[in-house]
Amino acid sequence: MKRKVIKAVFPVAGLGTRFLPATKSVPKEIMTLVDRPLIQYAIDEARSAGIEEFIFVTSRGKSALEDYFDSSPELENTLRRKGKDDLLKVLEHTNMESGAIAYIRQHQALGLGHAVWCARRLIGDEPFAVILPDDVIAGEKSCLQQMVEAYQETGGSMVAAMEVPYEKTSAYGILDVSEDMGQKVRVKSMVEKPKAEDAPSNLAVIGRYILSPDVMENLNRMKSGAGGEIQLTDAIADELEAGRDVFGFRFRGQRFDCGSKAGFLQATVAFGLARPELHDEFQQYLDELMALKSAAQ
Ligand code: G1P
Repeated sequence: MKRKVIKAVFPVAGLGTRFLPATKSVPKEIMTLVDRPLIQYAIDEARSAGIEEFIFVTSRGKSALEDYFDSSPELENTLRRKGKDDLLKVLEHTNMESGAIAYIRQHQALGLGHAVWCARRLIGDEPFAVILPDDVIAGEKSCLQQMVEAYQETGGSMVAAMEVPYEKTSAYGILDVSEDMGQKVRVKSMVEKPKAEDAPSNLAVIGRYILSPDVMENLNRMKSGAGGEIQLTDAIADELEAGRDVFGFRFRGQRFDCGSKAGFLQATVAFGLARPELHDEFQQYLDELMALKSAAQ
């Protein structure tokens, strides 16, 4: 019987150098799309998929993240006194039941695989999800929820997957597929950040995973991979070596790479337009901008 996935690991220890100077004092995961920090989108997605235990792998300088999920009595009392029930409601999403959230420090930046391995004692022998908050995915049903449903049929390990242009394969984990079942693919091997000419396909891993606890065992070996880092991709590929199943899952939804400035801006536009209270004003601004641009051409 497949076990329910109730634990998720959020690797949030990165320095966020691509967003300096902002990330000098603000963790990348606290940067906001419209009015919600990236981490809130990740948590909402996890909740929608039935996750009950949230494990953050953090590092020095990330205390703003811990505060974000703490209760804030002063702020809440003030809002209550002023009758601002709508804002109190907004804050509810940031509240976590005590004991549902754990913080682990990654003491050295040794790679994504190492960050996930830091959570091994809290994971134990259960399947678990991993969410990379940089990858923001908009869709009717959340990506992780779709994956949890698919996983109930497949078991094994599963990674979110999406076709990318070949010239971008060197930014992703890339799947070598043995059987394409449409939404699901059976993986025969996977490689981290191959050059286009070495890539077995253009089907890339996106930052959502459901992993067998065996992956933690594989990470114990601390194999150094692409870029000299301990790669999660390699530990999942080791599952295949051991004869266990790994699937790719083509999710429905639009993925934004919020680890890059261009992707972050695109997400800001898309999420801004999706907000009913902002839509008209924002759309009008964009239309004016386009009109100006075509007039200048
Ligand atoms: C990580 C993973 C990579 C995956 C990517 C998805 O890379 O190592 O396999 O394709 O996330 O966003 P990073 O973006 O941290 O370099």
